[in-house]
Amino acid sequence: MEDSRVVEIAEKAKEWTLEAGARLNLSHQEKLNVEYKTSAADIVTQKDKEIEQFFIGNIKTTYPGHYVLGEEGLSDVLPTDTQNGVVWIIDPIDGTTNFVHQNLNYAISVAVYIEGEPSIGYIYDPIKKELFSAIKNQGAFLNDQPLSTLTSCGIEEAVICFNHLWLVPNEKVDYEKMQRLVSDVRGVRYLGSAALEMAYVACGRLDSSLDFRLSPWDIAAGLVILNEVGAEMTTLENQTINVYTKSSTIFSRPGIHQYILEYLS
Ligand code: IPD
Ligand code: CA
Ligand code: CA
Ligand code: CA
Repeated sequence: MEDSRVVEIAEKAKEWTLEAGARLNLSHQEKLNVEYKTSAADIVTQKDKEIEQFFIGNIKTTYPGHYVLGEEGLSDVLPTDTQNGVVWIIDPIDGTTNFVHQNLNYAISVAVYIEGEPSIGYIYDPIKKELFSAIKNQGAFLNDQPLSTLTSCGIEEAVICFNHLWLVPNEKVDYEKMQRLVSDVRGVRYLGSAALEMAYVACGRLDSSLDFRLSPWDIAAGLVILNEVGAEMTTLENQTINVYTKSSTIFSRPGIHQYILEYLS
């Protein structure tokens, strides 16, 4: 696809992402209907569905041939061959638990994959009014400020991010190794929005972010942004991350990625 066409699609994606953020900001006075999906820890509100529908409506009107993959499943069934065509991958609210409990620390995540390539990514925190963005090969930005290429750091200087599940007996990793890792790093944080955590690695607020099992809509935009700043990204098994396959994920600045992988293997 021609560069000018990619930029045109990116402009639309940006416009709709900012408008979706404004809609969420306006909704703060509304009563939220919280429904359980698979459990009390897996929730959805009417706002998640409304924002997803807002994107689908705009995309389908403007680009009838494009596919949409959203967390709440209101859109298309994807073609089996995702290497062709244009696919929008949308998480209308990443961090719904934070949205409901804190009204903070959540984001809208919008990505466009063109012929299989991670091409356009936006992660927007409507409370802080921070828009993280990238177009493939054109650098990454926080609002209008370009983000620098990530430099390496030592493990003793690193602030890393993961949830409590890594520190209790689990199927993926020896939690006792994880407990030792915690004592080697400078600090540990957990935000509760995988997309924002990726954005924070991209801008250097976090040095690494680890997750057991993320979905396409959690990571699609973050992959575009992290690619542009030279982040290292693999599964726990040191495999390449495939956006369409649920997998463990580690996103880090250079230097500590390999250290963490070796430490946990
Ligand atoms: C969740 C958040 C959370 C991550 C979960 C995701 P949601 O997304 O990104 O940080 O640990 O795995 O499902 O459901 O709030 O969009
Ligand atoms: Ca969810
Ligand atoms: Ca999510
Ligand atoms: Ca979501």
